[in-house]
Amino acid sequence: MTHCLKVTGVAAASLAFVFLLVGRAAAQDPSGDPAPDPQDPPAEEAVAEPPVAPEPLDPESTLGDLLVLLGEARPSHWIEPTPDRIRQGGEIVLSGRTTDDDGRPSKVASPGFLCTDCHTVDREDPDLRVADPDARLDYVMQTGQPFLPGTTLWGVVNRRSWFNDDYIKKYGTLVKPANESLREAVFLCAAECSQGRLLLDWEVDAILAWLWTVQIRLGDLDLPQQDLDFLAAAVTDPAMHEEARARLQAGFLPAAPAHLRTAPADRSAGYGNVGDPVRGEALYRTSCLTCHQADKGDPRGVRGTFPLDDSKASLSMLWRNRASTTNLGFHQVITHGTRPYGVPMAYMPFFTQERMSDQQVDDLMAWFRARLGVQ
Ligand code: HEC
Ligand code: HEC
Repeated sequence: MTHCLKVTGVAAASLAFVFLLVGRAAAQDPSGDPAPDPQDPPAEEAVAEPPVAPEPLDPESTLGDLLVLLGEARPSHWIEPTPDRIRQGGEIVLSGRTTDDDGRPSKVASPGFLCTDCHTVDREDPDLRVADPDARLDYVMQTGQPFLPGTTLWGVVNRRSWFNDDYIKKYGTLVKPANESLREAVFLCAAECSQGRLLLDWEVDAILAWLWTVQIRLGDLDLPQQDLDFLAAAVTDPAMHEEARARLQAGFLPAAPAHLRTAPADRSAGYGNVGDPVRGEALYRTSCLTCHQADKGDPRGVRGTFPLDDSKASLSMLWRNRASTTNLGFHQVITHGTRPYGVPMAYMPFFTQERMSDQQVDDLMAWFRARLGVQ
């Protein structure tokens, strides 16, 4: 078995985890009735206290507020972002722990990982309507961000489902609750992807509150002027609400698509595209080295046990093992990830097709070839 999510390795552990999720839902809802979510006010209430409509529509307006103005109820992961919760959530995401309401330090969320080892918290795609890793690499090269296996947490509150497509196919019931609820996705990823502990309810609240502060804003969408005019008119005309929401939603992906990669049939040769060594080097630096560089002083560095750098020794080791179907083969780890081992247990998450393209893997090979002077 190979894994991307931590996935403790044994089926029993995964099953226990599912029971845990079920048990948790049951605990919140002893009556067995559909649990009234305190964060999910009835639609009338959400409409009764709408955010103030900026005039004309401000590019800084958040998608969350705009959708409410256009008649939609807040989603179930809505939480009023109070200053305390925002601070706590930001601290958990960016530095792994926070202080509770009484000022006591919380336990670290994970001994091995920060959320930001695998997710950035900024925009990473030039066009929010497509998940194109080649365009993303250009974008992160300009903005100086890393190129990571998890999608950005920026705008994650604006999505409609999580752990999509092949994550559902591969992990089934383990990720089903997370597919349907961002609250469950955060809870799952903290425990499984991050190999951390189960977060407490207030910690998940805090993370959600903070995530609502890094959402997509109107100006981030490349909407044509006619759509912007339509939206501005729609705010005060309920008959236009549905169409306006549709135009807004068309400006970005409602869910991050996720399809498993396949390793090249001939691992020595790669996928057969002409590789670009310059882009390959950029990928190596923004992706592989972000996690593998030996400099443990970098707060983003994964606490792993496999240091890489751009020396010929590092590269020739990777190149030599390229056909290997063990963890030493880079096709192997990019496609399948590794299982957790070491102290603290660290593993490499796999990249999906949407997170790394075949072309990029061939670019990486071209950089190894160029740097090592091999054919
Ligand atoms: C070791 C890597 C890793 C760490 C650490 C990690 N994640 Fe993830 N996370 C992933 C991967 C891989 C996915 C699935 C791919 C994706 O982003 O859709 C994922 C998915 C998610 C999703 C669903 C995104 C979506 O749209 O499908 C959320 C939300 C999330 N993680 C939150 C967090 C939070 C919060 C933390 C820190 C507590 C965290 N993750 C830590 C790797 C990681
Ligand atoms: C999100 C962080 C992350 C990224 C990005 C990443 N790795 Fe990893 N990788 C890890 C971790 C963590 C491990 C397992 C622990 C370790 O050995 O350090 C690992 C393991 C490996 C291993 C297996 C080592 C062994 O002996 O088991 C190889 C080879 C490897 N990575 C190569 C790469 C290459 C090449 C890239 C770039 C395409 C890359 N990694 C990108 C985090 C990452």
